[in-house]
Amino acid sequence: MAILVTGGAGYIGSHTCVELLEAGYEVIVVDNLSNSNPRALDRVYEITGKKPTFYEVDLLNHAGLESVFRENEIDAVIHFAGLKAVGDSVSVPLHYYQNNVTGTIILCHLMQKYDVKKIVFSSSATVYGAPETVPITEDSLLSPTNPYGRTKQMIEEILKDIYLSDKKWSIALLRYFNPIGAHQSGRIGEDPNGIPNNLMPYIAQVAVGKRSHLNVFGAEYATPDGTGVRDYIHVVDLAKGHLKALDKTLNEVGVDAYNLGTGRGYSVLEMVKEFEKVTGVPIPYKIVEARQGDIAICYADPTKAKAELDWSAEKGISEMCRDTWKWQSLNPDGYVIEEKNLFL
Ligand code: NAD
Ligand code: WQD
Repeated sequence: MAILVTGGAGYIGSHTCVELLEAGYEVIVVDNLSNSNPRALDRVYEITGKKPTFYEVDLLNHAGLESVFRENEIDAVIHFAGLKAVGDSVSVPLHYYQNNVTGTIILCHLMQKYDVKKIVFSSSATVYGAPETVPITEDSLLSPTNPYGRTKQMIEEILKDIYLSDKKWSIALLRYFNPIGAHQSGRIGEDPNGIPNNLMPYIAQVAVGKRSHLNVFGAEYATPDGTGVRDYIHVVDLAKGHLKALDKTLNEVGVDAYNLGTGRGYSVLEMVKEFEKVTGVPIPYKIVEARQGDIAICYADPTKAKAELDWSAEKGISEMCRDTWKWQSLNPDGYVIEEKNLFL
């Protein structure tokens, strides 16, 4: 069974490639490397002993992507490829709409042409915007507050329309909450460019000495300690959720959205304390102004994924902190170590 993984060299994609290869799937990765390093795929090979096929192709390159469909008998697609920085999406919205939405349309055209009608799509909890109530269920109002989130909502709508037009499609829309952590080997993990936007990579860079302290964005939210609360999920649990969703798309037609989260929220300061406890490394921090557009509390109701995909998160925040630290301490500068690269 051959699975096309778009964005497979990225953070969540590389972890999902490991799970797919270990489960016996053949993996074909398409990635333009705009936000990733092909060394991640070397490491995937090293962990699993199985080699994914790699195409350095942009989804916007219709002809290039078509050759991937022509050269491989693809059974299903897991579609991670996309740009994901909320702030950038506000600065360069057209770039985000073109890359994420147009890229998905080109992909789906080719899937239709080559009769590949099974897709697992990386959506995001960001489609909910500021939730009216928590925990958030899949039928909550969708109200994204930035262009990035709107690309995700638009793609969800496009995929639903495709299903309505042709009931042979099978589509899983996975709304991830806050993925953190890394593979337990410490060989693959999140390797952000420049200053990390997200909490856990920032904490990890403070711990490894690359940043002096964490700026905590606001301590006056209506939460127990005043700092923002999120549903952090271990990236390996998330990757396993993709295999469960893939199982469903391989066996049933339809279109469905699923929250992939733990169902528990933790505050910024709880995460700092847990990281310090697990690693023994102090994380100095300063409370600064709240970040524009941030919400106070966001966590999932993951009941539907449990009931329909037989998936639930297994790893807690101590494993998330432990594995983040293992990755960061073994790879303080990310994927930069000189090594022979099989995929370039
Ligand atoms: P990532 O940036 O590490 O991975 C995305 C990959 O897609 C990168 O390797 C990038 O080079 C590739 N890519 C981007 N545009 C492409 C294009 N036009 N053609 C080919 N390749 C392209 O991000 P990630 O954290 O692994 O996220 C994967 C997916 O999950 C994204 O769609 C993201 O929006 C979504 N998501 C991520 C999070 C998160 O917090 N990390 C949360 C919710 C949803
Ligand atoms: C978590 C908490 C911050 C950094 C974003 C995207 C979302 C999704 C995941 C893709 C918040 C606080 C953070 C820092 C801090 N991505 N924080 N200091 O904002 O929930 O979601 O990433 O779909 O779309 O919006 O995650 O990790 O940025 O923030 O105090 O340096 O940590 O205010 O409370 P967020 P995050």
